[in-house]
Amino acid sequence: MNRVVEQYKRACNSLAGGVSSSTRVNQALGHAMLFDRAEGCRIWDLDGREYIDLCCSHGATLLGHGDPRVREAVERVLARGAACSYENELHAELAELLCETVPCLERVRFTGSGTEATMHCIRLARAVTGRTKLVRFEGNFHGYHDQVMWGTIDGLGQVTPDLAPQSAGVTPGLDQHLLQIPYNRPDLLEEVFATHADDIAAVICEAVYYNAGCVKPTEEFIQAMRRLTTQHGSLLIFDEVLSAFRMCAGGAQQYLGVTPDLCTIGKSVGGGHPLSVFGGRADLMKRLMPEGDCQHSGTNNGHPVPVAAGGAALRAYRDAEFYPHIHRVAEHLCSGLIGLFERHQVPGRVQWLGARFGIYFGIDEEVRNFADAQKHDRNMMLKFIAAAIDNGVYFHDYGGGAVHHGFCHAMQESDVDEALERLDPAVRQLTPA
Ligand SMILES: Cc1ncc(COP(=O)(O)O)c(C=O)c1O
Repeated sequence: MNRVVEQYKRACNSLAGGVSSSTRVNQALGHAMLFDRAEGCRIWDLDGREYIDLCCSHGATLLGHGDPRVREAVERVLARGAACSYENELHAELAELLCETVPCLERVRFTGSGTEATMHCIRLARAVTGRTKLVRFEGNFHGYHDQVMWGTIDGLGQVTPDLAPQSAGVTPGLDQHLLQIPYNRPDLLEEVFATHADDIAAVICEAVYYNAGCVKPTEEFIQAMRRLTTQHGSLLIFDEVLSAFRMCAGGAQQYLGVTPDLCTIGKSVGGGHPLSVFGGRADLMKRLMPEGDCQHSGTNNGHPVPVAAGGAALRAYRDAEFYPHIHRVAEHLCSGLIGLFERHQVPGRVQWLGARFGIYFGIDEEVRNFADAQKHDRNMMLKFIAAAIDNGVYFHDYGGGAVHHGFCHAMQESDVDEALERLDPAVRQLTPA
């Protein structure tokens, strides 16, 4: 037995399911992958096998593993004692940088995870508007709290289908506060506002729907969201936990040219350390305690280590060279993957924007929403991921629907060439007989 499997089995005796996070079991392997060390775009497992990382910490690693700028910032704050649960000057520095960089941000708050960020943002939206209903889009992912862990059981692709909790233990009935419609359907958004406008606190969306691989909103859809929320006194929340910094420093809102009232930011904001942010218009954020009456607090919020790491990461994202490199590598990698699929006559589609991409086996038309993405050939994806890992490229399968992949800034075009070479046999074995 190799060390990865041995240590995973050991973990199963004391760590529930052998992991710290349910989705960390890679469904293509049937166990979690255990890594020993990581540098740049490469990771080494406990047995010393090296992989090119195309999961990139599910999006948290955008600079690259062990980035020296992040490490220095962390070491500096550790040397000062990293006093937990207190503020220092790094908090204001990072808050200022975020407000300069992301269009909707006039005030921010720090939290620990994307889940906390969306939870607090939704509470704030309800506090400010005095309304309870939340419009959300089929398949968009907003974390693991009870308000948002609801999925379609019947009526996929329709207005307000039957929803069911996506986990045991979710408080029954919370779906009465949700109005769900498919992504990229401005006509259905109009319909929902026509019947429920007075009750709608907010529309929350993945401004680029990366959780289904990579789905861009149409211009008409995103403009309808902005127009209808403004017209009816509801708030527009962009959940940019995954999309922030992915294609430009100002995130999806800058890329799309639409400014929401509030947004959430997670994953890459901490430069690989646990940090997330919610924020937006100053007049809305004033409602938070101690200025207002809406609670947001937490012992570990704004821990100095992730805040220091976040400052170093954000300075790197603001560098003029950062995004031209990301877009060059994206083009090289994704067109290379398409070339591989064509060469081996494998029905694989690739959609990408910036540093994240989706692969859809068995689909040849553009994926525009959750229902489209659900049509992908999951067995083929699992076979591909298992073979890719066997050949030294790490992808992750979370279980369930379409999955997203990504690369980091440390990845060079020569690394892409090497990854494509390693992936050749993984694609070849999918060729129809
Ligand atoms: C868009 C979006 N929102 C929220 C979350 C939840 O973030 P976290 O896993 O940090 O709690 C995720 C995580 O994948 C996400 O992609």
